[in-house]
Amino acid sequence: MVAARITVNGKETPLSPAAPHTTVLDLLRERGLTGTKEGCAEGECGACSVLVARPGVNKPTDWVAVNACLVPAAALDGQEIITSEGLATVGEPGTRPTLHPVQEEMAVRGGSQCGYCTPGFICSMASEYYRPDRCAHAEPAAGSDAHADDAEHGPNGFDLHALSGNLCRCTGYRPIRDAAFAVGEPTEDDPLAQRREQDPPAPVATEYARDGATFLRKDTLAETLRLLRERPDAVVVAGSTDYGVEVNIRSRRAECVVAIDRLPELRELRVESDHIEIGAAVTLTEIERRLDGDVPLLAELFPQFASRLIRNSGTLGGNLGTGSPIGDSPPVLLALEASLVLADADGERVVPLAEYFTGYRQSVRRPDELIRAVRIPLPLSPVTAFHKIAKRRFDDISSVAIAFALDIEGGTVRKARIGLGGVAATPIRALATEAALEGKPWSAETARAAARVLRGEGTPMSDHRASSVHRSAMLGQSLLKLHAHTTEAVSS
Ligand code: FES
Ligand code: FES
Repeated sequence: MVAARITVNGKETPLSPAAPHTTVLDLLRERGLTGTKEGCAEGECGACSVLVARPGVNKPTDWVAVNACLVPAAALDGQEIITSEGLATVGEPGTRPTLHPVQEEMAVRGGSQCGYCTPGFICSMASEYYRPDRCAHAEPAAGSDAHADDAEHGPNGFDLHALSGNLCRCTGYRPIRDAAFAVGEPTEDDPLAQRREQDPPAPVATEYARDGATFLRKDTLAETLRLLRERPDAVVVAGSTDYGVEVNIRSRRAECVVAIDRLPELRELRVESDHIEIGAAVTLTEIERRLDGDVPLLAELFPQFASRLIRNSGTLGGNLGTGSPIGDSPPVLLALEASLVLADADGERVVPLAEYFTGYRQSVRRPDELIRAVRIPLPLSPVTAFHKIAKRRFDDISSVAIAFALDIEGGTVRKARIGLGGVAATPIRALATEAALEGKPWSAETARAAARVLRGEGTPMSDHRASSVHRSAMLGQSLLKLHAHTTEAVSS
């Protein structure tokens, strides 16, 4: 097996002697690339953002921005990354480097004051700069009221959500937005634009061991499942957005970490006649772009799920695997009546998500099992909504999350599925409310009566995010809001 190494800004960088838990951020800084910064070390500030060459959605390779503070360096064995230092072009000795177009716009538009956050913003911005389907909006037709851009998209097609995981505490965001909306298209001789046309590095089987700890990546699902049977104590990681926080904030040092994020069997997304199957290791950004709105409830979820940086690494398998009662995806997947395909070394079983969670951060999944895929049955219910109640609009943890999926025919609710998060030890279905809606006219009276039932679902508790009274009240309001929106849409 070749010694573990990462190609950083075109230069091979061996991992040794770093410990297996060493993050990409720490590796870079230890090797002198101190442009990449640590702000929070838990995926919330984006100061550590770097670009990774990953399988692309519209081209062979996408330059994907990730939080280097969360990803173990060993997880990028054999991969290529670009840091803020690698974006500028260095010329002859004694001459000044030529700034990357994104760096140039940030400089001339005053997008940086103390500069601590700037390399992270630059990398997130560069990822969006190289997004193959980013394109300038057409000018509105003469006399049209349509605007070529909106508050969250620039006239150059730049999606500000690309920066939703980057915080700046001193410049203010307007100059940063100005810079984002001013960048043009990559030129034809831009090496990173050209790199998108070739395949990204293939995943590499890895066994990186030091000081009694090991980071492992196998080539196939079968090998991985055999390993998990031998090592039930292993920590399984995909995007490491959860484990990375444990390592940094709680000093967790697992003896054995197993990466599954590049297993081909977990990376498929298929639309069949009666269901959609989403591989457990397809990233949230990939799902968002590949489904492109085909599952409206998921499309409504994604912009509210953490930040673009987290969605670039995070997966549905990870969000369900941690079993958190306040994960963002379970309420939505419960409303969609999703099932999980669980695989072990002997075969597979399919478990409805409604039967998956058994207690606080507990599930029916055994340590030697992996979530291989999430299945969403078709057809989808036509009336859907996802309401996430949190202190911030983006990049926050929910106090309460509610997902609705209703079939309403001839003004009557034929079927209602409601998923809830944050009101019990596990995500739950609002079964009593579903029963209070089904067979009833979709009227204000029904909505008010069902909202009273919904307020009583679960066992919400009071904590630093919200009181139990607030959580219950939000449940009821959520249904009234859905009713108001749907009837407004019908009457308009
Ligand atoms: Fe804040 Fe990584 S250091 S997100
Ligand atoms: Fe100082 Fe952003 S420029 S934190």
